[in-house]
Amino acid sequence: MNQSEKKNIMKVAAYRHFGSPEVVSLVELPKPSPGRDHVLVKVHASTVSAADYRARSRNVPKGLGILAAFGLGIFRPHNPILGMDVAGVVEAVGANVTTFKPGDEVIAMLGAKFGGHAGYVCVPQKGAITVKPRNMSFEEAVTLVFGGLTALGFLNRAALKPGGTILVNGASGAVGTAATQLAQHMGAHVTGVCSSANRELVSSLGADRVIDYAEQDFTTEGRTYDVIIDCVGNAPFERVEALINPGGTLLLVIADLKEIVRAAGRSRKSGKLVTAGNIKYTAEDLAFLVSLAESGRYKAVTDRTYRLSDIVEAHRYVETGRKTGNVVVQIAAGSPGPDLATVSAHPYTPSP
Ligand SMILES: NC(=O)c1ccc[n+]([C@@H]2O[C@H](COP(=O)([O-])OP(=O)(O)OC[C@H]3O[C@@H](n4cnc5c(N)ncnc54)[C@H](OP(=O)(O)O)[C@@H]3O)[C@@H](O)[C@H]2O)c1
Repeated sequence: MNQSEKKNIMKVAAYRHFGSPEVVSLVELPKPSPGRDHVLVKVHASTVSAADYRARSRNVPKGLGILAAFGLGIFRPHNPILGMDVAGVVEAVGANVTTFKPGDEVIAMLGAKFGGHAGYVCVPQKGAITVKPRNMSFEEAVTLVFGGLTALGFLNRAALKPGGTILVNGASGAVGTAATQLAQHMGAHVTGVCSSANRELVSSLGADRVIDYAEQDFTTEGRTYDVIIDCVGNAPFERVEALINPGGTLLLVIADLKEIVRAAGRSRKSGKLVTAGNIKYTAEDLAFLVSLAESGRYKAVTDRTYRLSDIVEAHRYVETGRKTGNVVVQIAAGSPGPDLATVSAHPYTPSP
């Protein structure tokens, strides 16, 4: 292969079958070229998220298997490259692109199209893409995207007011660490539910109270909340209805088909908003997260960082369901960072 052919090839982590982490492998594919309305991003970092694990294994909540098969692929993945989020540098833009130019450092959410575990990706200029925080590395900045946009999208559905109360169930995951920080920023009194190992982290992110789920069942405490956000999947409406104040909200980040279908009816009957399903990811929400990060009001929470060549290990770790915040994948050769043969410091790596 000559030099110019090499330049048009990129390394990606791809999966051709659904299954265990070992179905993911490194392959070379042609580098994409941007369409008229697209931005070509050279990817420096992405994450392996719960969504990557679910897509790869097709392990989805009860009742959603058929929908997932149509969305992800019945026999083989529709989109063989996983990775919902990227941080990188704009390399080229299509003829109609006016908002970005080559050299811009950006973060983007690719959503259900995935494609971030690759050397390059094309992103629509009107998609969820914005300039990355100036005070964060690519590896830090990418952690804003998946958890941050999901948490913000759900919290935007609730009328959480300054002084209001919220319980974040699963406060140490990617979505929970984001929800804790955002709710604190909104002026709410935050109760985080996590294990004892993550107590200190969750407090440092702004939780006023922390409940260790191994020691105390939050549903038997006798406290009530304006909003409950469930990032674990063990707080369905029937379990927590009595804990939600009149007019309050249950945000089901993870829910089975029955919960999703019954959400609207339960809202009508109870006068409490019950909401589940997918979030619309927007550039405005991403820009809001960037503004918080730049003013020091939102921290990157990174559990481990892997090289793209260690992608199978990264999937194995995420599949445990025990990660703290985000698992980052470093992609562009030569991007700065520690020796990433293994992992960065646990329990988490806070940004400045
Ligand atoms: N609806 C949507 O659009 C949407 C978007 C994004 C994600 N999701 C879903 O939302 C869920 C959360 O996503 P995520 O990215 O935050 O997951 P994650 O980062 O993998 O969550 C892992 C965390 O959950 C904690 N945890 C496990 N069991 C717990 C329990 N019983 N009580 C409290 N905490 C517990 C773990 O802490 P310990 O190890 O200390 O227990 C760990 O820190 C996933 O199921 C994901 O598929 C949905």
